[in-house]
Amino acid sequence: MWGGRFKAGPADIMREITPSIDFDKRLAGEDLAGSRAHARMLAGEGIITKADGEAILKGLDQIGQEIEAGSFVFKRELEDIHLNIESRLAEIIGPAAGRLHTARSRNDQVVTDFRLWVRAACERADAGLLGLSRALLAQAETHAATIMPGFTHMQPAQPVTFGHHLLAYVEMCSRDRGRFEDARKRMNESPLGAAALAGTSFPIDRDVTARALGFARPMRNSMDAISARDFALEYLAAATICATNLSRLAGELVQWSTPAFGFVKLSDAFTTGSSIMPQKRNPDAAEIIRGKTGRVLGDFVALAMVVKGLALTYGSDLQEDKERLFDAADTLDISLAAMAAMIADLTAQPDAMRKAAEHGYPTATDLADWIVRVLKKPFREAHHIAGSVVKAAEDKGVTLENLPLADMQAIDPDINKDAVAVLSLEASVNARMSFGGTAPLRVREQIHIWREKLK
Ligand code: ARG
Repeated sequence: MWGGRFKAGPADIMREITPSIDFDKRLAGEDLAGSRAHARMLAGEGIITKADGEAILKGLDQIGQEIEAGSFVFKRELEDIHLNIESRLAEIIGPAAGRLHTARSRNDQVVTDFRLWVRAACERADAGLLGLSRALLAQAETHAATIMPGFTHMQPAQPVTFGHHLLAYVEMCSRDRGRFEDARKRMNESPLGAAALAGTSFPIDRDVTARALGFARPMRNSMDAISARDFALEYLAAATICATNLSRLAGELVQWSTPAFGFVKLSDAFTTGSSIMPQKRNPDAAEIIRGKTGRVLGDFVALAMVVKGLALTYGSDLQEDKERLFDAADTLDISLAAMAAMIADLTAQPDAMRKAAEHGYPTATDLADWIVRVLKKPFREAHHIAGSVVKAAEDKGVTLENLPLADMQAIDPDINKDAVAVLSLEASVNARMSFGGTAPLRVREQIHIWREKLK
């Protein structure tokens, strides 16, 4: 392609290090779309003839079919997807193929392809998160009033409902979707027409190509168009945050499905056995999702280091951008799909949740709140009294609910039988009616709102 001023071919090692075709063949669809838009615009503006424009479009269609059919031969000596397609186009339509690259450089070509690819990745992430949100919501609906222990420091804290716990993840998914949506919106500008870096002397119409490719507008600065990769970093940042959120849910599934917790049961379809221990049922998918988190962050870090300190505009360093994105997107896509399937598959075990919630005196706060509300004592004093009641129950080996009233009155004679009524798990969750609280009524309100939003 650049043989004009070169006498010798590249060194063998150059043939090893420069090609990107092994991975950028994944941009074939985007490259064809970019070329079609460019060719139509060139013909429309009279920069190439209509006949050449049509020949180019026909040739590109044939290449598309060959790629789809798997008969297209990708050649490493042609370096990348752009040169592979251009070279095949020349084989099919002859010299007219050479006109496609008028007013275009591989620099604006590659980043146009890449923006299209990352934009689609944002859309896939959004769809994956929507699927997961719906799966979470369905379980939350079933278990809006199913009581489980809520934890802080991994210690039983206060009773909550399983539905409330799952809706916390629906909230996270929705923020993740917002991040991908923001990123998509910001990246949806066309670099095509920036040419090598400075624009072109041909009378191109960048609005036309931008529109044809679904971009909101052409990028305003040709140098920025060529060099910017922050759109890819934004995807990776959103993907990293999303993966860390997923890893928390994955970690909880691992815990919840242990015999010690027994809060959920994953079916045969989502567990594996052990080759030696016949009793085992391992939550592999959850562990793998949890394990993949670092990989997505690694992709972010790797690309950030490629871009760091890189002078404008294009440097071949930027060829390193694609594999990081592909890896992160593949990882995120499969993690989201597997997580959604696992959530839909799991069976909650309300009895085990309830039993666990009975341990650890999780309604001690309710007693303290009652002392404040009814006996009008300051919260700090009420906290102290309730603490002594917990100690008494502990010494007797009973739950707060089952501690005789007389034992409580020995600690504070003002406590009466009304206090006992607030100590049940149901009373505790039902009382948490503050906005965002775990009361089943509040949980159902939120479920209703999400049902509408996720329609
Ligand atoms: N294969 C290159 C990449 O992935 C395409 C752009 C090459 N441009 C250039 N001037 N060498 O970034």
